[in-house]
Amino acid sequence: MDKEKPFSKSEPTFRSLVENSLTGIYINLGGAIVFANKRFADIFGYTVDEVIGMNYLEFVHPEDRPKVEEVHRKRLKDEAAPPEYESRGLTKDGRTIWINRRNTRIEYEGKPAILGNMVDITQQKRLREKLVQMEKLASLGTFTAGVAHELNNPLNNISSSLQIILEEWDSEDDEFKKSLIHDVENQVERGQNIIKALFDFSRTDELDVQEVNFHDVVEQAIKAIQDKIPENVSLDIEVAEDIQASISYEHVQQVLINLILNAVQAMENGGKLRIAAYHEPTENNFCFEVGDTGKGIDKDALNKIFDPFYTTKEPSKGTGLGLSITHGIVQQHSGRIDVSSQPGEGSNFIVCLPQV
Ligand SMILES: Nc1ncnc2c1ncn2[C@@H]1O[C@H](COP(=O)(O)OP(=O)(O)OP(=O)(O)O)[C@@H](O)[C@H]1O
Ligand SMILES: [Mg+2]
Repeated sequence: MDKEKPFSKSEPTFRSLVENSLTGIYINLGGAIVFANKRFADIFGYTVDEVIGMNYLEFVHPEDRPKVEEVHRKRLKDEAAPPEYESRGLTKDGRTIWINRRNTRIEYEGKPAILGNMVDITQQKRLREKLVQMEKLASLGTFTAGVAHELNNPLNNISSSLQIILEEWDSEDDEFKKSLIHDVENQVERGQNIIKALFDFSRTDELDVQEVNFHDVVEQAIKAIQDKIPENVSLDIEVAEDIQASISYEHVQQVLINLILNAVQAMENGGKLRIAAYHEPTENNFCFEVGDTGKGIDKDALNKIFDPFYTTKEPSKGTGLGLSITHGIVQQHSGRIDVSSQPGEGSNFIVCLPQV
């Protein structure tokens, strides 16, 4: 066979290739189908003879006709149009199907025409939708199970403390009874904290955005949790003084506090807490970092730390909601959050938010 020209149009090989193609192939001349292979007819439930002469839009779902028409029009005029796109199709018996289309402009009998190529992706589309639905349900399930578990612990503790109080009602040991009541109080507080965190978590109200100097936010955040930073943790703060940002003061302060508390809690034996903030050179963003020299996060855990209720801390120390709330706040600000970590060496969280 000639290497330059494996086959010419008239050769039976070419015809056979088109006719047996797994994709639907058609030629649209002036809006009418003038050629179609068997696969094209099959996709829409017609015979090849039936489709010849039909308008190409009869194969398109009515709601998608304007879009498909637009692409065809542009393609004929050689204007920029997507080389490949998805649209809904309509079968002979009125079913809606999903089609991936690809077309090019050709000359057919001396006139500009469209050579179209399509694949039926209905099945893939359905599977994909099912998968997304299942993932959503699965994460909702995990979340609900988490809430139930988290609230169950303090309720169980309250119940057993109350039972002991009742049993010991007549005992002389007032101190013991008092301590049990204090336990109940603590557990109620724990339940309230979880509820508060859930409210924060599900908060979808508008952010109260105002223009603030970011340096102030850092100063206030540190002041608010000064007593939770132990002596053996040294501070290294490098925050540019000229960062003006339109942010929700309260929310971003909460982000800082969550990150700082996590950093401190990761440095049980002390270490260095680093807080930096700077302008991002190419974008109109500013970024801040909270870094520690603590125990770090291993690779598997890195994928989970933003999940609600993921925690490696004792029940009295963490609810596992801090980072998921943080993530939500950053998203509400159209920002991004990244983390890098080496087990045994420390972690670094970077948050970037739009500037004024
Ligand atoms: N700086 C860090 N160093 C090491 N591990 C971290 C760090 N930040 C977060 N983690 C890990 O991610 C987990 C989830 O953090 P997150 O802030 O969401 O919850 P938490 O701190 O456990 O509890 P909460 O913040 O609700 O009190 C932590 O339990 C910890 O294992
Ligand atoms: Mg935390």
